Amino acid sequence: MKRTIRDLKNIQDKRVLLRCDFNVPLDKYGDILDATRIDASIPTIKYLVNQNCKLIICSHLGRPKGYDKFLSLFPVAVCLMKYFPNKVKFCPKVVGDEVKRDISKLKSGNILVIENLRFDPREEENDPTFVKELASYADIYVDDAFGVAHRKHASNYGVALKLPNAVGFLIEKELKVFDEAFKNPKRPFVAIFGGAKVKDKLPLIKNIIGKADTVLIGGGMAYTFLLAEGINIGKSIVDLSLVDEAKSILDEARKAGMNVILPVDHVALKYDRVVKADNLDADMIGLDIGKKTAKLFAKEIKSAGQIVWNGPLGKYEDKAFRKGTFMIAKAVAKSSAYSIVGGGDSVGAINTLGFTDKIDHLSTGGGASMKLMEGKTLPAIEVIDTL
Ligand code: 3PG
Repeated sequence: MKRTIRDLKNIQDKRVLLRCDFNVPLDKYGDILDATRIDASIPTIKYLVNQNCKLIICSHLGRPKGYDKFLSLFPVAVCLMKYFPNKVKFCPKVVGDEVKRDISKLKSGNILVIENLRFDPREEENDPTFVKELASYADIYVDDAFGVAHRKHASNYGVALKLPNAVGFLIEKELKVFDEAFKNPKRPFVAIFGGAKVKDKLPLIKNIIGKADTVLIGGGMAYTFLLAEGINIGKSIVDLSLVDEAKSILDEARKAGMNVILPVDHVALKYDRVVKADNLDADMIGLDIGKKTAKLFAKEIKSAGQIVWNGPLGKYEDKAFRKGTFMIAKAVAKSSAYSIVGGGDSVGAINTLGFTDKIDHLSTGGGASMKLMEGKTLPAIEVIDTL
């Protein structure tokens, strides 16, 4: 078991470097569109503030190439100020004298948020000079950035190796939820996979064979599976290099007694017209599951004991092809099954429809939760001490 902040003793007045994942969506004015990730970090921050630590919080935001004023962490610091009035200061630098001065002035029980780590290219390179600099800010390191734990960056992987360390409550919960869901699933266990990139999802489906009872496949990835079944997919997205692998996964899954359900109808684009189709003709591009498929999927979801959902069932970024994902979000929210939802668009659909409270666990990690579902470990968490 990984050491958590609960296990850290005598931390009052200590400088604690807390790595969060505040990679939140912003609009063009810098306003936060969805604060789920900030809200999810509050229990850890509160605990450390209540322990009277001197808290230095760091995070990445977006994928900047050097400094980018539209990707500053300032709006995040402002959001934290609402939770912790008069306790939060923002430093517009990642390294250098200004950061050091602000840290030296930091009072116990107060918070300093430093600027976006990725403004310094050494962060993603896990550069030892950057690691050394970050490690010099604190006495203790706490990792609560689940969303980026599949990456080996300076502020998670690098610093954890240099300082006494622990994970925060957010990471503790994410690990526990995924571990239990896969080791001891409530049955029937229904997994729903969507998204466009079939390459990313094949390892998940492989790992779930023998664990889940039913797998529902939608989104762009479904067309590679449909083609593997010999079904016409028109001009829909497909990864031809993976058709054979998709076929053998389907065979293996069925041999293991797993119920695999693929779309039986589609919302498609024919030239510039949106059409509904049971069978895609040569000029059609399938872009969402149709009503029959949504009903078929909803029936399985209704009788599930546990649901794991990752990825949209259609081209979610386009309003015309969002309905399938919304119908599945509704079915998952209505189901009495234990539910776990991960991935930006699936979580986005749940939040947009106001179903946030109806889901047992909304994961804060897309790529990271996928790695756990593949049965892999996360490098940034591997380097945290065990008890
Ligand atoms: C995410 O949003 O998935 C995490 O914050 C990781 O971001 P990254 O994919 O840019 O590393």
